[in-house]
Amino acid sequence: MDLLLFGPPGAGKGTQAKLLIEELGIPQLSTGDMMRAERASGSDLGKRFAEYMTQGLLVPDELVLELMEKVLSSDAAAKGAIFDGFPRTAPQAEALDAILAKLGRKIDRVVAIEVDLNVIIDRVTGRRVCKSCGQTYHLRYDPPPSDGVCTACGGEIYQRADDTEEKVRTRDSEYQAKTSAVLEHYDAKGVVVRIDGVGELPEVTDRIRAAIASK
Ligand code: AP5
Repeated sequence: MDLLLFGPPGAGKGTQAKLLIEELGIPQLSTGDMMRAERASGSDLGKRFAEYMTQGLLVPDELVLELMEKVLSSDAAAKGAIFDGFPRTAPQAEALDAILAKLGRKIDRVVAIEVDLNVIIDRVTGRRVCKSCGQTYHLRYDPPPSDGVCTACGGEIYQRADDTEEKVRTRDSEYQAKTSAVLEHYDAKGVVVRIDGVGELPEVTDRIRAAIASK
């Protein structure tokens, strides 16, 4: 299955994707996580990503597609994937459809997670993330250990530089201006199910399961 978890920054895409990897038996492909890993490696490509990410702006399509084409042509996602944070523009959606079509696949379901901006700001400014495995915590809703060591892998927990209120507002504006077109693209194909993203984590997971199962 190829599943797209769609929604604004902080909607819970990454958190929910990680909860579903084992159950669905397919990997999570997060362009945000991949770009942060590339930046951490100190590569030239990572430096180009940083120019945009630190400002809360979208990375240009050609750089994103270069990254995703490599991943999708590898064995890692041969049986499908949970796409998280990609595609984020109409050209990215068209490119993804073309890559998947060559593999005899298509996006089977888009689950659009709906959350208001005020909730998003609260979630994103309270988020803490493991540098090694990407495990996500929240200072109030899912507190990280007080010693700052990830419970999943022992890695270091930190706050993303783009998780300030100012950057979240910029990221949300980018989402409204460029990313909402992706929903229209998949709405036209009849594969979108919208769900309420507010509630306890297991409740939201149940809504995603129901959305996947619905026709
Ligand atoms: P990316 O890393 O993809 O960030 P994002 O889409 O802005 O999404 P987030 O990771 O902020 O949020 P999320 O929805 O995964 O929420 P999470 O589960 O963590 O992208 C970062 C940047 O990279 C972009 O700005 C851009 O520059 C670049 N980029 C990436 N992909 C790109 C692309 N395709 N094209 C161009 N540029 C690209 O949850 C948030 C918090 O809320 C957590 O603390 C979590 O614990 C908490 N939480 C989650 N669910 C709940 C709940 N139900 N109740 C209470 N708390 C909850």
